[in-house]
Order: sequence, then structure tokens, then C-alpha cells
Amino acid sequence: MRQYSSHKSQYSGCWGTRPNSQAPATRLGTMGEGYVLPRTGTTNDPVRLAVLVSGGGSGLASLLRYQLTPRCHRTTLVIADKTDVGGLQHGRDAGVTSIGVPLPMEVEKDERRVAHERLVNAELEAADVELVVLCGYMRILTPWFVKRWKGRLINIHPSLLPNFPGAHAHRDALAAGVSVTGCTVHLVDEGVDSGPILAQREIEVLAGDNEEALQERVKVLEHTLYPEVLDRLCSGQISL
Ligand code: GRF
Repeated sequence: MRQYSSHKSQYSGCWGTRPNSQAPATRLGTMGEGYVLPRTGTTNDPVRLAVLVSGGGSGLASLLRYQLTPRCHRTTLVIADKTDVGGLQHGRDAGVTSIGVPLPMEVEKDERRVAHERLVNAELEAADVELVVLCGYMRILTPWFVKRWKGRLINIHPSLLPNFPGAHAHRDALAAGVSVTGCTVHLVDEGVDSGPILAQREIEVLAGDNEEALQERVKVLEHTLYPEVLDRLCSGQISL
């Protein structure tokens, strides 16, 4: 695994089920840019996470499995931008409040995005959420929402950013003919799939890989990388 601080390699090594006091802390160097990181959680008082999904939610399911063992973070809310996505069922099966918050179609198109985010934000605040985890959430967030949660808003993207941002990362990686791809966990800023990189993990592109095959193999990496980064972030191992 490679861990990055401000796009530079800082940490190599994995850690398992508990915060690893041996792992060097990651310093982001983003002071003054409006980031406020989550408090340090403990297994007795874990950081309360909301996971936002738009689809099947395999990443959410793997995080919920990881959290079956006490961690310094716990998922207390799942929000989807539709009412019928598979991810909601994973949340419900785990006994987590899981709600669909669809776009308010009655609102003028220009104002609909922010209006939707205000509805989502109201749910986050009502549930006293401390960290928002985007996990296959296919909406670009407005500067208003990013500012509200900056430093407590984290995303996983299926490429080695800054390469191949956007909704078609695997297609773009295959079209570019790269031999290595992977996934990236990053704090969210006002751009698309930009923001300080917290960790990346690589995988070889195999001859004959198509979009689906690559997506499935990268997801396997995502499902271990995201919980590990959440451990680091929620145990005070990452600082500004
Ligand atoms: C993941 O590959 C994630 O990185 C991307 O969308 C996919 C979501 O998959 N943004 P799932 O819904 O967790 O199965």
C-alpha cells in the first residue's frame, strides 16, 4: 500500500484491526484551506459516520462488515440519492438508519442541487453525524456542501488520482492504455475528484481486461483501503 501526504509518499505498511501506534502520522499541509478534521474516536465513543451511496453499495457492505468488530468509527446513517438503491438494503440489514433522499423535482432546476444538499444536510445534522463518507455517491457536490463538511468529507475514487477523475475512470484508464491503475481515498474539496490524497492502492491492468473486470478487481482493493484510511483519520493519525 502507498500512503500519500499532499501527493508525496509518506507511509508504507498496513495496519490491521486497531490503530497502529507504529504508523507515522500523515500531515496534510492544508492548513488555512478551511479543513476541519473529525475528532479522535475510540472504540467506546466511535466517530459517527454517514455513508452516502448511489448504487449497489458493495463498499458500504464491506465497511459495515469491518465495523462488526469495535472500531474508532461507526456507521450510524446511510443516505442514498434515490429510494430504491441496493446500498440502502445493506444499511437496513445491519440495523443502520437508511434513507433515500431524492432530488426535489418541485424545485426550479437551477436551485435543485443545493436544495437537495440542504435536505441531505438536515438528515446529517439530525443524526449528529461527524464524518461524511462518499462511497459510490454519483453526485458532484456544490461548494456550499463542501464548505459545511470540509475535512469531514471523504471519497474513494477508482483510479490513481490525479489520473482519470470523473464518472468513467476505468473506461478512461483502459483507453489510455495504462499498465497500472488502482484507487484513491481523498478528502473532498470544491473540485471533481480533487482534494488532498490520503492513500492509494495499485493493481496491474491485465491483457484482456474490460471495464467490468477492472472495476471488480479494483473494488476488492477499495474494500480494504477505505476502512484502513478511516481507522487512520478517526484515530488522529492524520493531521492538517
Ligand atoms: C466504486 O468503485 C467507487 O469507487 C465508485 O463507484 C463504485 C461504487 O461501487 N465511485 P459500490 O456501489 O460500492 O458497489
